[in-house]
Amino acid sequence: MAVDVLLGLQWGDEGKGKIVDVLSKGYDLIARFQGGPNAGHTLEFEGKKFVLNTIPSGIFFDNTMNLIGNGVVIDPITLKKELDKLKDAGHDLLAKKNLMIAKKAHLILPTHQLLDAASEKKMGDGKIGSTLKGIGPTYMDKTGRNGLRIGDITLVDFKDKYQKLVDKHTSMLQSLYGEVADFSEREAAFFEAIELLKQFPLVDSEHLVNGYIKDGKKVLAEGAQGAMLDIDFGSYPFVTSSNTTAAGACTGLGIAPSKIGDVIGIFKAYCTRVGGGPFPTELNDATGEELRKIGHEFGATTGRPRRTGWIDLPALKYAIMLNGVTQLVMTKADVLSGFDKIYACTHYNYQGEQIDYMPYDICSVEAEPVLKEIDGWNEDLTGITELNEIPERLQSYIDFLEAELQVPVKWLSVGPDRKQTLVLQ
Ligand code: GDP
Ligand code: IMO
Ligand code: MG
Repeated sequence: MAVDVLLGLQWGDEGKGKIVDVLSKGYDLIARFQGGPNAGHTLEFEGKKFVLNTIPSGIFFDNTMNLIGNGVVIDPITLKKELDKLKDAGHDLLAKKNLMIAKKAHLILPTHQLLDAASEKKMGDGKIGSTLKGIGPTYMDKTGRNGLRIGDITLVDFKDKYQKLVDKHTSMLQSLYGEVADFSEREAAFFEAIELLKQFPLVDSEHLVNGYIKDGKKVLAEGAQGAMLDIDFGSYPFVTSSNTTAAGACTGLGIAPSKIGDVIGIFKAYCTRVGGGPFPTELNDATGEELRKIGHEFGATTGRPRRTGWIDLPALKYAIMLNGVTQLVMTKADVLSGFDKIYACTHYNYQGEQIDYMPYDICSVEAEPVLKEIDGWNEDLTGITELNEIPERLQSYIDFLEAELQVPVKWLSVGPDRKQTLVLQ
C-alpha cells in the first residue's frame, strides 16, 4: 500500500490538523515528517479544541498509530507540555501506546532557541518573523553535522554530547551577539522532559514505515507549514528551514518516491501568512481586517495576527506542481460568506509584464496582483451537511478553481469542527 501525503499549499495554517483528524480513521499510521513546534495544528470535535505542535493529528482514534518522523525537530519541553495537556484532557498517550518517536529526529536545545532569538533580533526590520522555537538553528546543526538526535538520549555519554553542543552555542552567542541569556530553568525543564520521552518507543522509523507499507497498511504523512514556506521553493529567505513539499515526506520518513500514493493539497478559500516576507494578494485594509476577524486569523502557536488576502492562483499552481497534488481540500469557505464580491489573483503585473508564475526576485521586486472579481455568497455554510445545500455561487467558485488548478476539490471544509466537512466527489 502506498503512503498518502497531506500538505499545505499556501503559507501554512490551511487547516491541516483538522483535515488529518477527519481522515485519520481510514489510516493505520499518521506520520509527521518535517518541521517541529513552529507548527500549530488545531482540531475541534465534541465541543473540545486541541492544538498540536509536534504530535501527529491522528491521536484521537483508537486504531491509528502515530509517528514523529526522522525529519522532525523536537523540543522536549514543548512535547512534554503537549503530552501533559493531552493527559489532563483524558488522552494519556503513554497509556494508549499510540505514539512513537524516530530515533533519528533531531533535538532542539534551549540554546537553539537563544540563537534563533538573537539572530532575529539582529536582523531588525528585515527579520524572518520566526516562531522563535529554535527551528532554523537546529536544522543548521543537523546539516552542519553537529546535531543531537532523539536516539542519543539513551546513550551513556548523552550529557557530554549535550554539553559540547551547548558550549559551541554559548561561544557563538557571546561572539556574535555579545550576550548569553540565562537558560538554567529551561535546561532543567529540558532534562526533565527527556526522562518522559525515554518512556516512549524510540524507533528506526524508516523500517517501521516501510513495514507498514509492506503489510498493506495505510499510512498518511502529515505535513507542517506550507509549500510557500519550503526552504528550496518558498519565498526565500522568508521561509522555514525544512522541505515542506512532498519530497520532504520521502526524506523525513525514509520512504521511496515510488511509494507515494495520493498527494492531498490543502488550501484556504482565501490566503493568510504569518511572519515577514512577500504576500502579493495581501489586504492591508478593512476587508483584510474583516477576514482576520471572521476567520479568527491569529497564530495557533504564537497568537500573532495573521496577514490576510485573496487567493493567489499563480502561487497555488506552483505548489500543486511542486507536490504533484492529486486531490484538493478547500477550507474556510464559511469565512467568505457575506462578502459581496471576492477576488482571485490570476496573474501578477511584474516589471511591466503580466506573468502567471512567482518570480525569483519576489522578495525585492513588487508583483502586483491581477484580480478576477467573483460574486460572493451570503448563505451561512457552517451547518450544511449535504451537497445540495452548497450555494450556487460557492459551487461556481469551486468550479472556477478546479478549472484553473486542474485538480479536483475532493473535500470542502465549512467550519473548524470535525463534522463540518463535506466530501465533494
Ligand atoms: P494548520 O496549521 O494547517 O493545522 O491550521 P491551524 O490550526 O494553524 O489554523 C487553521 C484554523 O482554522 C484553526 O483555528 C482551525 O480550527 C480553523 N479551521 C479549519 N478549517 C476551518 C473551516 O473550514 N472553517 C473555519 N471557520 N475554521 C476552520
Ligand atoms: P503550521 O504547520 C504558519 C512561519 C513563521 C515565519 C517562518 C519561519 O501550523 O502551518 P520558523 O519558526 O520556522 O523559523 O519560522 O515560517 N511559520 C509558519 N507559518 N504556519 C506554520 O506552521 C508555520 N511554521 C513556521 O511565521 O514566517
Ligand atoms: Mg498552524
